[in-house]
Amino acid sequence: AKPVIAVVGATGAVGIEILGCLEKRRFPHSSIRALASARSAGKQLSFGDKPLAVTELTESSFDGVDLAFFSAGGSISRKYAPIAVSRGAVVVDNSSAFRMQSDVPLVVPEINPEMLARHPGIIANPNCAAIISITPLWPIHKLNPIRRLIVSTYQAASGAGAAAMEELRESTRAALEDKPYQQKVLPHPYAFNLFSHNTKVDPATGYNEEESKVIAEARKIFGEPDLMVSATCVRVPVLRAHCVSLTFECERPITPDEVRTILSTAPGVQIVDDIERNYFPMPKDATGADDILVGRIRKDLSDVTGKSISLFCAGDQLLKGAALNAVQIAELLL
Ligand code: A2P
Repeated sequence: AKPVIAVVGATGAVGIEILGCLEKRRFPHSSIRALASARSAGKQLSFGDKPLAVTELTESSFDGVDLAFFSAGGSISRKYAPIAVSRGAVVVDNSSAFRMQSDVPLVVPEINPEMLARHPGIIANPNCAAIISITPLWPIHKLNPIRRLIVSTYQAASGAGAAAMEELRESTRAALEDKPYQQKVLPHPYAFNLFSHNTKVDPATGYNEEESKVIAEARKIFGEPDLMVSATCVRVPVLRAHCVSLTFECERPITPDEVRTILSTAPGVQIVDDIERNYFPMPKDATGADDILVGRIRKDLSDVTGKSISLFCAGDQLLKGAALNAVQIAELLL
């Protein structure tokens, strides 16, 4: 029988895209429940060309559900994912609530699909900046292990949800019209500005939560607890695609041409590296695309041993960074 599917947070930035991916990829289903807060109950979404009514998330929402996607924040996941599992559903969770739990698989299908063989009913979808950073690196790592990685991110508004995207639009409009704007979602003015990621900085390490997630999740997904990683995460005034600058050191010498050859057949990755036209990965091209765009593939000149490479990627935060990866996980579970 085809599964009954629930999408928790269906009205949110990621939830809408989950519905879109399920539809576009013709994901088998007998029915779909769109769940959100009481505020959205009765609201009409669409699934393909059919209307889909939103219902309020409650404990009984999961009766008869086989597969539940969660994308309504950590506290909703912590409360309702165990309820869904107890009713017999398998949960693919987009929040960070369960990612570092040792029995919960943290999966990027291009990297570690084998981790899905055993799970406690919950599978965690990784942090978006982590997915976009490490998916292109995995095929390189398999051939010439990466020992050290430096990640700098340029993260879009969508990672902070639909309201943050709206804040970017509204504050930009206000700035252009020379009107005052009081930000409600993000801690700093967003129009024509950028700022260190809005998560808390741990005074002990100096790293914010987003950076710590990228570091810990890269290690868990690669199955390399000792991978040396550092990250700087920055929010930029872009709507929905993240960029990342990556510099990594391999075990043995490696050339940009070798990296190009490896990435040219890598799943989920597309090379955009046109030196003549100065055309490289950009959020505008990554938006709406399934693949992560990779370019600026070059030697890291600060490493004279020839083991280090720098490159630049752009990936749709809402697709490969969230909804698409979650739906790909579910496809493997079927
Ligand atoms: P709602 O639209 O009813 O507030 P985003 O990441 O874009 O901010 O979206 C968050 C998603 O999580 C939305 O679908 C939102 O629904 C949902 N959500 C937030 N709080 C709750 C709640 N208490 N119960 C159910 N869904 C919630």
